[in-house]
Amino acid sequence: MTDATDTGAAPATVAVEEPLVTVRDLSTRFDVGGRQVRALNGVTFSLARGATLGVVGESGSGKSVLAQTLMGLLPSTGVTVGGSFLFDGTEMVGLGMRQRRRIWGPGMAMVFQDPSTALNPVMKIGPQIAESIRTHSNLGRPEVTARARELLDAVHVPDPTRRLDQYPHELSGGMRQRVVIAIALACNPKLLIADEPTTALDVTIQAEILDLLEDLQTERHMSMILISHDLAVVAGRTDQVAVMYGGKILERGPTAAVFEHTRMPYTEALLSAIPRVELPSHSRLRAIEGRPPDPSRLPPGCSFAPRCPYAQTTCTERAPEPRSAEVPDHEFSCWYPLGGQPPPSPDPSPEPEPEGLVAWKSQVSRA
Ligand SMILES: Nc1ncnc2c1ncn2[C@@H]1O[C@H](COP(=O)(O)OP(=O)(O)O)[C@@H](O)[C@H]1O
Ligand code: SF4
Ligand SMILES: [Mg+2]
Repeated sequence: MTDATDTGAAPATVAVEEPLVTVRDLSTRFDVGGRQVRALNGVTFSLARGATLGVVGESGSGKSVLAQTLMGLLPSTGVTVGGSFLFDGTEMVGLGMRQRRRIWGPGMAMVFQDPSTALNPVMKIGPQIAESIRTHSNLGRPEVTARARELLDAVHVPDPTRRLDQYPHELSGGMRQRVVIAIALACNPKLLIADEPTTALDVTIQAEILDLLEDLQTERHMSMILISHDLAVVAGRTDQVAVMYGGKILERGPTAAVFEHTRMPYTEALLSAIPRVELPSHSRLRAIEGRPPDPSRLPPGCSFAPRCPYAQTTCTERAPEPRSAEVPDHEFSCWYPLGGQPPPSPDPSPEPEPEGLVAWKSQVSRA
């Protein structure tokens, strides 16, 4: 092994691969009858090639709006998108529909929650898959059919030749979702966004579909954003996790760090809502009391403050900015995080010292 310092040679440059996805301060606002619905509020994250990000949060926290904003599937009027979304070097915010269509398929593709609505009920499976293949290739008819069969095989649909000739209603919910995944994979996307891909399915099928997505993601070195309202779904299947609330990411980082060194009270509340295996099967899921905020009337401070057991006056007055935790790339937005990290030195207006100190001391004793 040669050492540049010994030989006097210039140190070798280590090429750092650009992330596939770089999102900075992304926001989406709907104008509904003069009312502003701030559904996405300054979302920032990045995703490496071949890596998975789990996005979790209760219903209404902005997960689907994030997916639709990334895909560019928002309504064409009454919507304002701000910030930046760099995808494989292309700025997607403000990109026209023609260029976007070129990126859908080989660039990014999406799997929706309900396979029944994602498929055309009056069209056979074969032509629906073929349509996606043809959008980005000029293969002849026999090659397209062979590729459609291959795709059904890849998503483990048994007897693919017969399935190509069937209508969606002839398939079970799980099989329909496999077909939707096959369509999404038709052009080998670099990024797959799966928005609650198993929520509409029978509980026994859910794990099978999640395992399938995980296998496909690994085999194809795809990046994947897996959206779920259930932390347990993303726990063992993602490299990174982002916890959303009120259209913001409140905590984000390597999955193990977020689960093992949770800093946000909201993440803690979601974790405690997961039914535990040691509890009897009839045990009820512990719901988080209260409701997520109305995005047309977001509070001035931390949006979780009305439901947070640790809230102090500061929380209701000023929104906390993202801060770094000890583990690299682990960030959270909380004035009084779990684990006793003291509040950051306030800027620009001074924090009332005694309250911050008292709150921090109570955090230390809690940790
Ligand atoms: N097209 C739209 N027009 C107005 N408000 C919307 C629209 N789409 C979503 N919203 C609002 O944005 C918020 C976030 O919604 P959504 O992203 O669907 O939540 P989640 O997927 O986390 O359950 C909700 O309050 C919802 O009502
Ligand atoms: S900032 Fe305050 S209200 Fe918000 S999560 Fe942290 S402690 Fe709770
Ligand atoms: Mg949703």
